[in-house]
Amino acid sequence: MSTTDEIKSKIDIVELVSEAGVKLRKSGRSYTGFCPFHDNKNTPAFVVWPELGTWKCYGACNESGDIFKFVMKKEGLDFKEALQKLAARAGVQVQEFKRDTPEVREMYDHLRELLEDAVIFYRNHLLKHPEVLAYLHDKRGLTDSTIETFGLGYAPHGYDNLLKHFLSKYKEQDLIDVGLLSVRDVEDARVTQHTTRAYDKFRNRIMFPIRDENGKMAGFGGRIVDPNDMPKFMNSPDTVLFSKSRILYGLDRARKPIRAADQAVIVEGYLDVIALHQAGYENVVSPMGTALTEDQLRLLKRSTRKIVLALDPDAAGQKAVLRGLDAARSAMDREGELGFDARGLIHNEARLQADLRVVALPDGLDPDELVARDKDEWAKLIENAKPIVTHVMDVLSAGQNLNDPKIKNQIAAQVLPLIEDLPTPMERETYRQALSRMLKVDERALQIQPVAPKVTRRPRAAEQSRHVNQPVAAVNPNLKVESYCLGVLFRKPALLYRLDRKLQEFGLSALAVEDFEYTDHQLLFSVVRQAVEQDEKDHHHFAMSNLPEPMGSFSKDILAQEEDLPLEDKLVEELVARFIDLRRAHAMTNISQLRFLQEEEQQQGSANIKPYQEQTLQFTRLLNSLDQAKKKTLSKR
Ligand code: UTP
Ligand code: MN
Repeated sequence: MSTTDEIKSKIDIVELVSEAGVKLRKSGRSYTGFCPFHDNKNTPAFVVWPELGTWKCYGACNESGDIFKFVMKKEGLDFKEALQKLAARAGVQVQEFKRDTPEVREMYDHLRELLEDAVIFYRNHLLKHPEVLAYLHDKRGLTDSTIETFGLGYAPHGYDNLLKHFLSKYKEQDLIDVGLLSVRDVEDARVTQHTTRAYDKFRNRIMFPIRDENGKMAGFGGRIVDPNDMPKFMNSPDTVLFSKSRILYGLDRARKPIRAADQAVIVEGYLDVIALHQAGYENVVSPMGTALTEDQLRLLKRSTRKIVLALDPDAAGQKAVLRGLDAARSAMDREGELGFDARGLIHNEARLQADLRVVALPDGLDPDELVARDKDEWAKLIENAKPIVTHVMDVLSAGQNLNDPKIKNQIAAQVLPLIEDLPTPMERETYRQALSRMLKVDERALQIQPVAPKVTRRPRAAEQSRHVNQPVAAVNPNLKVESYCLGVLFRKPALLYRLDRKLQEFGLSALAVEDFEYTDHQLLFSVVRQAVEQDEKDHHHFAMSNLPEPMGSFSKDILAQEEDLPLEDKLVEELVARFIDLRRAHAMTNISQLRFLQEEEQQQGSANIKPYQEQTLQFTRLLNSLDQAKKKTLSKR
């Protein structure tokens, strides 16, 4: 048993939650009370399952998790802190976290110093190249002070300028490690008879230093000067200091302004960030040529929950929205350009409890061109940013004949699933009303026909009897399944793509952190997801070297599953079946719980059961698709 599992088995979740001031009442296999995470003292929608070691709120906040998540949320701790706390409570020894040793920290400092030197090196070259400076001044409208503030530079032509300049002071390997030199593969070197194997990565490019949120150097982005060069932008590869998916360009300078404005704006380009800062809009950041990640949103969430995406029409317009909706299920957690994946965004918005809005930039202009045209226009634009669903509705209806019933139907079919994904009944209701107004149809016409819940009866009984006699706080059997699946995924991260595809073939959503009930498993799963989404490193290697900090030492048994794995095809089939089972188990727990909650509400004489009915409907539908998928997997065997 891993350390986390041991802690889970030793702590009584009912006791833990009660101690936090939540009055719990036993009802059947579960305990219910008022949710401590949102303000509602009318409906006891907060449920704890001692046998599973989990909890869930069926009310407004719709949160769920295990003991770790509970403590994290209740006390505002991160996973590591919650782990320490609960380990102490359980009397479980947590092995020393693998903190960076002083040597490692020294190495990082050394590499950062090297990057700082590189900033100066590139800057000096910029000053020696008036034609590049002139481009920045005249074509891009940047002032000297802006150029200085953002540390812009120029990497000259040639393959060894930086190499020669730095070799006296730094080791070649260090220069490679921070991504300033590229390495020629051996064969190549032999053919061309070069004596050195490394050469300057950035040549004839405008250089943008990229710093982490604390202002520490992490890497560079380089933009072409010669319009014929490829690619237009080249970034440092992922290194020990630089991770594209976890840094936002400009955040070091934008953090305070974001806090002051209580709003963050995300644009798509380095030069746009810089131009906006110069124009006085300093709450602006950008990702670096990849889709926005949850990590990046989390970084912003530390300063504000109000986040606006300013996207060019290619990324936010009709085509992109449709593409995003079409690929919705598959695109959910996947990288691409900063596209408009409405479903994924809504998902993140709910999970982070953020307020995400979108604005499509007008007239085919980039933000830097917009502020150059009219400074004030930017403020107005951002002010008019719209919630994601509204944006989708507007985009889909633009230029359409909304009196045509066929078109109404088509739009409703596209928008309703998004509305269903919204986290609270309040939001769902509001958008359904908006949609009904827009399409000029009665709201009742928008209610998707309920599916008869015929499949639930028999399995539910089976499910119940399985748990009935289990001792409180016994370790949930799902735990084992989850950790087995994770172990396989760590060994073969690429399977994730095949799993996603298989699930989608069955009309199910791609794997997501929600498929795992336990906080540590969720963290590990996101590392696997990141591993397959990057292509700088071998997937497995990436996953292993990016374990969340407190994880390395004690997820050993997950990582060290030794037994021989079956052939890949078989393995995919097996994992798909297991995940379907896990999802079914969750759905059934939820359905039977919701029935309980409804009955209780009705006994209290309260008519406030609509939200429960809606949720039941969602889970029932899910269960239907899962059952169908299950049949298909079985028939294939
Ligand atoms: P754009 O191609 O829209 O460029 O890429 P831009 O920022 O408007 O640049 P200018 O105005 O033509 O100079 C937007 C962002 O996408 C990333 C970069 O971060 C860029 O700022 N990108 C783009 C890449 O990482 N690689 C590429 O090849 C292209
Ligand atoms: Mn641009």
